[in-house]
Amino acid sequence: MEWTRELRYKNYNEWPQEYIDDILKKAENSVWKNSFHIEPQSGLLNDPNGFSYFNGKWHLFYQHFPYGASHGLKSWSHVTSDDLINWQLDDIQVLPDTKFDSHGAYSGSAYEIDGKLFLFYTGNHRDQNWTRHPYQVGALMDSNGDIKKFDQPLINPDDNYTDHFRDPMIFEYEDKLYMILGAQRKDKTGTVVLYEAIDNKIENWRKVEELKFTDLDLGYMVECPNLVFVDKKPVLLLCPQGMDKIDSKNIYPQAYVIGENFNPQTAEIVNPHDMKILDYGFDVYASQAFNAPNGMALMTSWLGLPDISYPTDELGHQGAMSLVKELTIKDGNLYQYPVKSVESLRKNTFQAEKFKFEKNAYETEIIVKALSNAEITFYGSDDNKQGLKLILENGKAILDRSKCGIQFALEYDNVRTFEYDNSKDLKINAFVDASVIEIFFNDGQYASSSRVYPEAGNTIFQVKGTAPAVLHEF
Ligand code: FRU
Repeated sequence: MEWTRELRYKNYNEWPQEYIDDILKKAENSVWKNSFHIEPQSGLLNDPNGFSYFNGKWHLFYQHFPYGASHGLKSWSHVTSDDLINWQLDDIQVLPDTKFDSHGAYSGSAYEIDGKLFLFYTGNHRDQNWTRHPYQVGALMDSNGDIKKFDQPLINPDDNYTDHFRDPMIFEYEDKLYMILGAQRKDKTGTVVLYEAIDNKIENWRKVEELKFTDLDLGYMVECPNLVFVDKKPVLLLCPQGMDKIDSKNIYPQAYVIGENFNPQTAEIVNPHDMKILDYGFDVYASQAFNAPNGMALMTSWLGLPDISYPTDELGHQGAMSLVKELTIKDGNLYQYPVKSVESLRKNTFQAEKFKFEKNAYETEIIVKALSNAEITFYGSDDNKQGLKLILENGKAILDRSKCGIQFALEYDNVRTFEYDNSKDLKINAFVDASVIEIFFNDGQYASSSRVYPEAGNTIFQVKGTAPAVLHEF
């Protein structure tokens, strides 16, 4: 099926029931559906939105086009959880059904205010000439899940920026409400803009200034900026597009900056550290983090990238959400690691150098001794010819996707690497699902998250050069 503009922007209620039943069935039967990652029932999932704790539950929305694996008319779909691991889908949605979000309820965030969950997002509107008008719009969700949109946009398009002006992320700092969004200046350079809520009223927003956090040129656009506090330090997550000074082979990088302090008056992240890559794998983007009521910083990421075709497209689904990761800072470095409740997935624990699982749904822990090299295979085939390889060689971690099933996005290479200190033991924890692998090194000092599409039956795990791995079957 060719995704013409007409099809991508067709009204939701014009899709025939037969088509919907068909795509749901196709996606449900896909061999690459995962067992412990959030995925759309059908269609395309991208950015996490409105990640929050409200009314006694964890809430997560996601960007969704339900009718095919295409970036079509976006809405928000909604899941909730008691433990951040098991998520239930319900029928709460933010639909593109007003003038201001007619061409997509784009990304945004959530914040509880007076017993309701305030949803702050970008309404993507296009006029007859297909010119885009980005509005920052709001809605309130009550504890029954009823969503009421504000009649008017909270922030109108701004003359200082092009139509790339989106992804408001609301946060509280010293009892005041702020918001940052991503924008493209008129000279086609990317930036992040800081706003404050006048008198803390979510109806009244005032632009402070562009946020200062780096001397680097941020390419042509910054998507999904997100500010969260870890041990009181501001951590800015961002997706700069078209930046050449950052070392990532992915089409667009997911980056972060840690600062020593946040100064909202001067719109500054004070003493920012160098911008770094958040994840060394193939497929992380648009990560969203927020401070939970107890202060901890929780983050989830879209395991996918814009402008890439994935092997499941023809099966009517694309995109998955990462596990929820907790952010911490150790020795000045950002660490990310799945929340503790991930351990509740473990059913059966044993040790092995090589093991053929019934299906790809397990966790492994491997220690690579200081100054030694190792080779780890996931998704291995019986004849040893296929598998995702993780090679640890002289302080370099090399993830090679070239022999793991269906190949895709080859213009961006099928190897990802990073360097680590091999004078100490390296601890590796990998969470392996049907078509997702999230690998964490040294309890989250480095992360590497990727999509893979192995052939059926390729479920062998193997280590060479280390002691047997601890395996937790899920
Ligand atoms: C990032 C993004 C956002 C936008 C949304 C639309 O992946 O392009 O900037 O709000 O996706 O789905």
